[in-house]
Amino acid sequence: MTTPFINRGNGNSGFKRLPIIAGNWKMNKTVDESLLLVDEMIDDLDAIEGVEIVLCPPFVALYSVLDLLEDTGVGLGAQNMYHQNSGAYTGEISPLMLREICDYVILGHSERRTYFGETNELVNLKVKAALKHDIRPIMAVGENLAQRQAEETSAFVTAQVREGLAGIDIADIPTIVLAYEPIWAIGTGLAATGAMAQEVCALIRQTVAELYTQEVAEQVRIQYGGSVTAKNIEEFMSQPDIDGGLVGGASLNADDFIQIVVKTLEVSSKK
Ligand code: 13P
Repeated sequence: MTTPFINRGNGNSGFKRLPIIAGNWKMNKTVDESLLLVDEMIDDLDAIEGVEIVLCPPFVALYSVLDLLEDTGVGLGAQNMYHQNSGAYTGEISPLMLREICDYVILGHSERRTYFGETNELVNLKVKAALKHDIRPIMAVGENLAQRQAEETSAFVTAQVREGLAGIDIADIPTIVLAYEPIWAIGTGLAATGAMAQEVCALIRQTVAELYTQEVAEQVRIQYGGSVTAKNIEEFMSQPDIDGGLVGGASLNADDFIQIVVKTLEVSSKK
């Protein structure tokens, strides 16, 4: 696995968080289509250094995609996982099944919470299970439109972070990626502004600092997700508390996804 930190090389005065762009393909692409998409972009993605890149195709394509990613610097992630190792859980996928294939797993995506009833408590169990099996969680949080309009965003997102991370050892915190995805921005073409996303991402980092320490909070990478494109990624990446993107629709197009990663590198190298 790629280390999440680039040492600044100046001894003890800190580090720079390695930017991370993940493509969440959601329920799109057959196995054949997945292989075609990876084939279209893998050479360009592999040539980019300084941005961690993770592809999250559907479960059935993971193993075939892994073949194409071998010997590249591009990582693989799953979009969900159950927290039990095995047993009578029809239709579920366990950490034991993913641990040899995946570097990452997206947990608590708003679509899982909304359509499949996932609670903070369940997300917390999943995060713990992933960590136990050395799979890095990308834990997603974010408010819906009604909550934003009612000015409940801070309280809601803070609770999601607190409950999602409950009982997790401080040593594991730097390996977790947190993704701020306002539900109203997902798949709508109405991305948050950089300032709006920064405000909540700073709050998320502050929450981690309150739960653990400022030092460990500074190590956690926080992504923004919600209608990220090659046109707006620079605005997000310019923000001090945004370390990457969780990209849905634009990750299904090779050129768009490559451009997002290229622009991420450009901005983050100036940070
Ligand atoms: P879109 O980029 O399609 O808005 O999706 C964002 C998302 O939900 C990624 O997890």
